[in-house]
Amino acid sequence: MTQVEDTDREMRIDPDGFAGGYFRNAVYRHWDPYEDIPQADLEADREKLIGDEALTEEEFEAIRRNVALFGAGEEAVTEDLAPLSLVLEDVDDQMFVSSQIYEEAKHTQFFDRYWREVIDPVAEARGFESTRPTDERYFDDDYVELFDKNEAAMQRLLEEDTPENRAEAYCHYHLVIESVLAQTGYYGIQSSFSDGGADDLAAREFPDLDGLVGGITKIRSDEGRHVGFGMHKVQQLVAEGKVDASVVQETLQSLMPHVAAIVQEGYDDTFDPLPLVEYSSEKLQRRIEIITDSEADLPDVDELVEIEGAQPTAAD
Ligand SMILES: [Fe+2]
Ligand SMILES: [Fe+2]
Repeated sequence: MTQVEDTDREMRIDPDGFAGGYFRNAVYRHWDPYEDIPQADLEADREKLIGDEALTEEEFEAIRRNVALFGAGEEAVTEDLAPLSLVLEDVDDQMFVSSQIYEEAKHTQFFDRYWREVIDPVAEARGFESTRPTDERYFDDDYVELFDKNEAAMQRLLEEDTPENRAEAYCHYHLVIESVLAQTGYYGIQSSFSDGGADDLAAREFPDLDGLVGGITKIRSDEGRHVGFGMHKVQQLVAEGKVDASVVQETLQSLMPHVAAIVQEGYDDTFDPLPLVEYSSEKLQRRIEIITDSEADLPDVDELVEIEGAQPTAAD
């Protein structure tokens, strides 16, 4: 690999540039999935679920499936981002992507912790079947296919690093999985287990799960940066004429049926899937509008990471 000579600036990094600013924000907002999610909150989640006499095994399974899907998703994206850091030339970009890989690993750790400290003990106390987060029952064909396609799109960068392949990688990873699928899932969880979000999603009132929602709020804050970075990169490729906007649109739209199927699958009698499917397609539409319009401003990094309850902000 040839070393790219840095002729633009005398210092190595550009802390005020786009990626440099995002990296600084990531360091500033660092959090620890153990220390910063109080054990007392997880204990309270556990006690509330054990004490919720109306909780059926079917409802618990729906909650547990969500935790399994998130955990597996975070693990997959932790493993799949590395090719991007190998092909990006700019040190600020590389620094940002290294923070992103680290953050995905922390997200994986949070969901693993939640399974150990809440899901398993509740199953045991209530006499429900004990399952593993890797159990095949949680992963339908659409989920597996979407993540397989993401892995392939990232791997392709190592074989053929073209602007189009980069745009496709960002579309799979940053836009469809991180932005649309994950954000829709967070919205569903916040709606069902806190005061925020949509009111009519869950079939009944569930206890507030402050540990789960607290962890997800931290994760969403990280994801705001990840999504912003991907949007910025795609918008740049389109604005510079290196990639046609139709490629971006087609890639995103080709993946949406997977997202709709995943969202619908787990929300049978316990949760109403329709508001979530609408939420996800609206989100995709807003992403497409911004990234295919070179004049459109990306939300500021502080705005992207601003999380107030589950209410979608302009950045969502
Ligand atoms: Fe993540
Ligand atoms: Fe992410």
